[in-house]
Amino acid sequence: MKVDCVRPCCYSPRPNAVALGDDRWVVDLISCRSPGKILMTIAKTRTVESPGKINLFLEVLRRREDGYHELVTVMSRVSLADHLSFTVLDSRLELNQTIESASDAQAMPAAEHNLIYRALAHLRHRTGCPLGMRVDLIKRIPIQAGLGGASSNAATALSVANELWELGLTPNELVDIATSLGSDIAFFLSPGTSVCRGRGEIVEPISIATSMPLLLVMPPFGLSTAAMFAALQLPEQPRSPERLLEALKFAQPPFSNIHLFNRFEEIARQQSPWFAEIQRGLLDTGAVAAQMTGSGSCYFGIFASQSHAQVASNRLAAEFPDCRFSVCQTVD
Ligand code: C5P
Repeated sequence: MKVDCVRPCCYSPRPNAVALGDDRWVVDLISCRSPGKILMTIAKTRTVESPGKINLFLEVLRRREDGYHELVTVMSRVSLADHLSFTVLDSRLELNQTIESASDAQAMPAAEHNLIYRALAHLRHRTGCPLGMRVDLIKRIPIQAGLGGASSNAATALSVANELWELGLTPNELVDIATSLGSDIAFFLSPGTSVCRGRGEIVEPISIATSMPLLLVMPPFGLSTAAMFAALQLPEQPRSPERLLEALKFAQPPFSNIHLFNRFEEIARQQSPWFAEIQRGLLDTGAVAAQMTGSGSCYFGIFASQSHAQVASNRLAAEFPDCRFSVCQTVD
């Protein structure tokens, strides 16, 4: 471990620092002008963006004996992200949540039920690590939206704690832990766009030719993933993502709705006319394709450019005043 010497004589990285198990370090000042050992308090911190996702394709294949469903989905990370700061503590786990939307603030779970907290507690239990963590979360990704915000936060917490607590877990071990906490978390341990199978935890990253400009539209209501799975009619002839995967290889993004699919959309449309209305609104304002993400309730439009998406956002905000809009793009 290297830490920076705080003495004005060098400010150089010190290769021989020894951790005392919390944020205190003994630093050996061998090559300083005044050699010796000093005790320093150095907070180990990390600040990261935790991205959301959209499902470009989502088909449910069958019910499994463990109560979950076998599915095939193509997911892309998006630039709309939560902001997370981590600071290693001696032993406590502490989560401070700042939620930007008033409606999300009401629906947000208490800190100890948040997946970030559960992921860190699980990691400590599994590895025997005695260290603690303070996490400051600024929540920007709408919740109960199908944007994967909670899963992304959990994946970020696992990766950062593995590093800051110096646990040395391999990527496969992290995927195992992620999967025991939720179906979508493993996706966020890989970059960019992936085809996911099984419960969602078998993740195959794919390279896509270009980033897609997006407009996300969040209605004033969320949908529960478990309830959407429970309401599902299993297809007799499941759809395949092949047409989408072909289109993603070329420079242009998928150019129409024939490339996209989401099995949950038919259930969402039975629950509210909003889904058909927002799809029409997005296509009328220039989206090349538009679909619900995950088990809802957020809808996305794919646009030719960010400026097209911004113009559509301005127009639709007048027509759908109780919705939240976010111009963003798919990211690596
Ligand atoms: O795994 P996760 O906690 O995200 O799943 C939430 C709920 O969604 C599960 O309790 C289950 O009812 C349903 N689910 C499912 N099949 C999947 C993923 C989720 O039935 N592949």
